[in-house]
Amino acid sequence: MDIKNVFSNNKKWIAEKLASNSNYFNQLSKGQEPEFLYIGCSDSRVTAEDIMGVQPGEVFVHRNIANLVNSVDLNVMSVINYAVRHLKVNHIVVCGHYFCGGVKAAMEAKDLGILNPWLRNIRDVYRIHKKELNDIKDENARYNRLVELNVQEQCINVIKNASVQQAHHQRGLLVHGWVFDVHSGELIDLKIDFPKILSEIMEIYRLE
Ligand code: CO
Repeated sequence: MDIKNVFSNNKKWIAEKLASNSNYFNQLSKGQEPEFLYIGCSDSRVTAEDIMGVQPGEVFVHRNIANLVNSVDLNVMSVINYAVRHLKVNHIVVCGHYFCGGVKAAMEAKDLGILNPWLRNIRDVYRIHKKELNDIKDENARYNRLVELNVQEQCINVIKNASVQQAHHQRGLLVHGWVFDVHSGELIDLKIDFPKILSEIMEIYRLE
């Protein structure tokens, strides 16, 4: 796409929105009350709002390479804190996707420079689940399973936050793990057992 089209596309989009609701931007400017925080991959094919069928204002979004939740990443930690304590979201979603280049890169013995410390988080997921993953002989199946296990581990990392633990007890905030299948367009709920994970990890990670 030519970059010049961006601004003409924007004008078309404004006209479409106003045609269906002349008050649309007035309402949008009043503020946001999203019900969801979505943490997903930066991959250009996985567009949070499109795959969830939601409109501007409905989901607070954070994206990075391979949808990682790392406790020393000030960016994702600030997003979680703000979404939970100020926007008061009731659902946090970690959404991975099959055919994730970040996850694939982490399975290869290659020096990727500045990406090494970032992708090491995925290698750590592999190490935790080494037995299960090594037993999967088909490389693509193993790679897809690592995508799912990465989502699960990042959900656990979300639950390690004090704000998340408090909001769960105070208002029933839930954490969900999803995978988007780029091949079919389907959004798959991994059915992360949030209360079970919470009770297991609270023994060590309780912060309240
Ligand atoms: Co990805």
